[in-house]
Amino acid sequence: MHKLNKFVYMSKKLLSLLRKNKRTIIGLLSGTSVDAVDAVLLQITGNGTSSRIKIIDFIEHPVPQNIRMAVFKNSVNNTAELEEITRLNVILGAVFADAVLKLLRKNNLNPAAVDLIGSHGQTIHHLPNKDNYIGFRVKSTLQIGDPAVIAILTGITTIGDFRIADCAVDGDGAPLVPFLDHILFTHKSKNRALLNIGGISNITILKKNASKKDVFAFDTGPGNMIIDGLMYHLFKKKFDKNAHSAKKGAVNTDLFGYLLNDKMFRKSPPKSTGREHYGAEFQKKLLAKFNKLNKYDIIRTVTEFTAYSVWYNYNNFIKPVCVIEELLISGGGAKNPLIMRALKNYFKGVSVNEVKQNGINSMNKEAVLFAVLANECISGNPANMNRVTGSTKDVILGKICQ
Ligand SMILES: Nc1ncnc2c1ncn2[C@@H]1O[C@H](COP(=O)(O)OP(=O)(O)O)[C@@H](O)[C@H]1O
Ligand SMILES: [Mg+2]
Repeated sequence: MHKLNKFVYMSKKLLSLLRKNKRTIIGLLSGTSVDAVDAVLLQITGNGTSSRIKIIDFIEHPVPQNIRMAVFKNSVNNTAELEEITRLNVILGAVFADAVLKLLRKNNLNPAAVDLIGSHGQTIHHLPNKDNYIGFRVKSTLQIGDPAVIAILTGITTIGDFRIADCAVDGDGAPLVPFLDHILFTHKSKNRALLNIGGISNITILKKNASKKDVFAFDTGPGNMIIDGLMYHLFKKKFDKNAHSAKKGAVNTDLFGYLLNDKMFRKSPPKSTGREHYGAEFQKKLLAKFNKLNKYDIIRTVTEFTAYSVWYNYNNFIKPVCVIEELLISGGGAKNPLIMRALKNYFKGVSVNEVKQNGINSMNKEAVLFAVLANECISGNPANMNRVTGSTKDVILGKICQ
């Protein structure tokens, strides 16, 4: 095609995408656990609070262990290498594209049947603190697995990098999920909280009939990150499937007391955290101090701590302003029976359940978010939540790659 014709063709394609009321979208997420690329295929009619979502399919495309280890290595200051991060930006883009192609094959679809991909990318580093650097004080965050790579390898318009626009207006760029929680889970007569237990745990508070301005949310502390890290060190396993190892141990009061000294989970919100805090260094220190302890007791204790840190944050920072009646849980942690049992114990009088609503469940929910954010971007709607991230302006999130 002649260059100008090609430009006109691409512009028309984008324009028709803008005008559509119903879009077929794939949402992609790889969280801090780097266990799998979650890929959801869905249709969205409308946008904003009037969005209606129909889930079509969902897959988890495992991230190969060598790539997972490379991401961990390059997420930590003293082991990261600039060359490796640069290469991983393209390598992960290809892994995300593979997840899309697999989902299309499974559903007998051509790329042309999909309007958009919304991709979170892989967080490599998150810096919400405004420390002085060469005379500047900015918040920043870096996700790799470039959306341009996904767009080229799949042939589908891809929107990615949703966090950084919020940082440009002094926001943390995280968490983003409260936007989805608000439009889908606000209840007319019940105060609810949504808890996602991924690598990190984050909570969204939706008082009954909440408006966008009422919503608040923050990271409570660890999710599965410490459990996963220690499972790898102690048992060479990726995670503690169905709490199999933790069930063989008991809570050790010395280790639990040591974990209670962690400043991050006690910090009052707003706060966001990640592998920088609960990753390799945190785990190495813990293991060095408690190397004589029974391995199963270690896993049991950090599992208990994950649930406790959620409750601590609720009791100290949420309950005084909003007493919840329902706690809806998503993320891989919802599949850990000991985390669920401990949460039910701590949250006495609150109904504690896995998320389940119109095809959205504890496994696909975060991937749905990135499909919704792509839909908001193409609809021209700001999707950052100022009260949640601390940003000073409403901005449209995401970069569009053709
Ligand atoms: N059956 C299970 N039993 C125990 N833990 C599980 C189970 N399934 C998933 N998980 C935990 O959930 C993690 C993945 O959670 P996920 O929500 O995908 O996190 P992220 O968003 O950080 O990728 C796994 O690494 C594991 O720790
Ligand atoms: Mg995951």
